[in-house]
Amino acid sequence: MKTRHPTRPAPSTPIGKPLLTIDDLKVSYGGIRALKGVSIEVKRGEIVAMIGANGAGKTTTLKTIVRLLPIVEGKITYDGRDLGTMSVEEVVEAGISLVPEGRAIFGGLTVRENLELGAFNHKRRAEMSETIDDVVALFPRIGERMKQEAGTLSGGEQQMLAIGRALMARPALLLLDEPSLGIAPKLVQQIFEAIAKVAESGTTIVLVEQNTRLALKYAKRAYVLRTGEIAMTGDTKTLAANEEIKAAYLGG
Ligand SMILES: Nc1ncnc2c1ncn2[C@@H]1O[C@H](COP(=O)(O)OP(=O)(O)OP(=O)(O)O)[C@@H](O)[C@H]1O
Ligand SMILES: [Mg+2]
Repeated sequence: MKTRHPTRPAPSTPIGKPLLTIDDLKVSYGGIRALKGVSIEVKRGEIVAMIGANGAGKTTTLKTIVRLLPIVEGKITYDGRDLGTMSVEEVVEAGISLVPEGRAIFGGLTVRENLELGAFNHKRRAEMSETIDDVVALFPRIGERMKQEAGTLSGGEQQMLAIGRALMARPALLLLDEPSLGIAPKLVQQIFEAIAKVAESGTTIVLVEQNTRLALKYAKRAYVLRTGEIAMTGDTKTLAANEEIKAAYLGG
């Protein structure tokens, strides 16, 4: 992705310093504790992966960051600001976009209309069409299907659109929830190459993935979640060589 269109707003945190800090986060559904004290740090410019089995709390963590779930205990800080006091809208305006699990595109709208909905924070026509150009440069398949109803896209194309829609806000922090889920390997490859380009252009990324191999390949550091707790963390090269990780998540 070209860098002529900077993220908005640009974080005041310098590159390489903590942009997002999750400190001892506890979250519950009714009486059931889904996160039991999760601490995660994401430095500006990194791709950080969050891996772990079904139900470990990955989606819960992302939803809590964007304020879709209340914080029971703990603190989330983004670019020096306490997210706990912000609304969902304020979090998005602060520069954070979530690509949710299952994509959640609007199937009855065209591809272009879906993208335009993501540009709620810069409605000026020129700026919007420039950002669409950036998304098309990243995902040419999306560019070829602008007038197509989004519901008729393939699963992989829908994931590209969901990521594109999130990028329309020009986020400084992009949260991705299982971008490879249910997608043909060839398109998964394209999607991950695109994610790498987005990171190169200066967007910080939190990547939730059950495909541990992919997550460890593309991320610099990773956190392993197990039943609501961080079981392990480290740089991805070290984790990929770890016997426990190999046995539990990489099929031996
Ligand atoms: N709306 C909900 N109501 C009650 N419990 C929930 C709800 N959503 C999630 N949970 C529970 O919280 C725990 C964490 O779920 P979460 O969706 O965060 O896991 P995950 O790591 O994203 O799993 P997956 O890989 O399957 O997406 C699970 O035990 C789950 O059953
Ligand atoms: Mg999930």
